[in-house]
Amino acid sequence: MSGYFSSSVGRKFFMALTGLFLVLFLLVHLVANLTLFGGADAFNAASHFMGTNPLIQVMQPVLALGFIAHIAMGIILELKNNEARPIGYAKNNANANSKWASRNMIVTGLMILAFLVLHIIHYFVPFKFNTELVEAAGTHYDFVIARFDSLLYTIIYVIAFILLGMHLMHGFQSSLTTTGIRHEKYKKCIVQLGVAYSILIAVGFSAIALWFHFV
Ligand code: HEM
Repeated sequence: MSGYFSSSVGRKFFMALTGLFLVLFLLVHLVANLTLFGGADAFNAASHFMGTNPLIQVMQPVLALGFIAHIAMGIILELKNNEARPIGYAKNNANANSKWASRNMIVTGLMILAFLVLHIIHYFVPFKFNTELVEAAGTHYDFVIARFDSLLYTIIYVIAFILLGMHLMHGFQSSLTTTGIRHEKYKKCIVQLGVAYSILIAVGFSAIALWFHFV
C-alpha cells in the first residue's frame, strides 16, 4: 500500500481523491455562505448549524487532513515531476478550457494556500478561539460582512476565487479521469460539468465579496 502511494500513479490517485473531497467541501461552504444574501437571521442560523452539528464537527479534522494531504502531495508531485520529465497529471488531460490551468496547478495551488492561511486567520480562528472579537462586531453575520469593508481584502479574495476557479477547471476533470470515473462515453458531459462547477465556485464566492463591499 505504501509502495502504491509512493508510485507516480498512486500519488496522482491520492491527489484526485483528496481533490474530490475538497470539491464537495467547497460546494457545501458556498451554499452555507450564500445564506449571507438572505440576511442576518438566515446566515446566523446556518452558522449556528455548522458550528454545532455533530457530523460537521467530526468532519472538521478530516477536512483539515484532506487539505494538508492534498497540498503536501501536490508539492511532492511537482518536485518529482521536475526531477523526471513531466508526466501524466499536468499534461494528459489538457483541453482548450484548461490548458494554462493544467500547466500551472502548482502556481494556482500555492496562491490558494496563501489565501487559505489569511482566510483561516480572518474567520476560523476568531470563530473558534476568539469569540469575544466576533461578539464585539455583533452577530456572526456582522463579523463576516465587516471584513469586506476593506477594498484590499475584497480584491485579494476575488483574485483568490478566480485562481480557485482556474485550479478547479483542470482539477475537477483531471481527478475524475485519474479515479476512472470519467468514462470516454461521458467525457463531454464531465468536461462541461467541471467548467460549470468551476464557474459557479468562482462567481458565487466573488459575488459575496463584491456585494458586501459595494452594496
Ligand atoms: C466569500 C467567500 C467566503 C466566506 C464569506 C467564507 C466564510 C467563512 C467563515 C465564516 C468561516 C468560519 C466558519 C466556522 O468556523 O464556523 C470559514 C471557514 C473556512 N473556510 Fe471559508 N469563506 C469563504 C470562502 C472560502 C474558500 C474559497 C475556501 C477554500 C478555498 C474556504 C475555506 C475555508 C476553510 C477550510 C475553513 C475552516 C473550516 C470550516 O470552518 O468550515 N473559504 N469560512
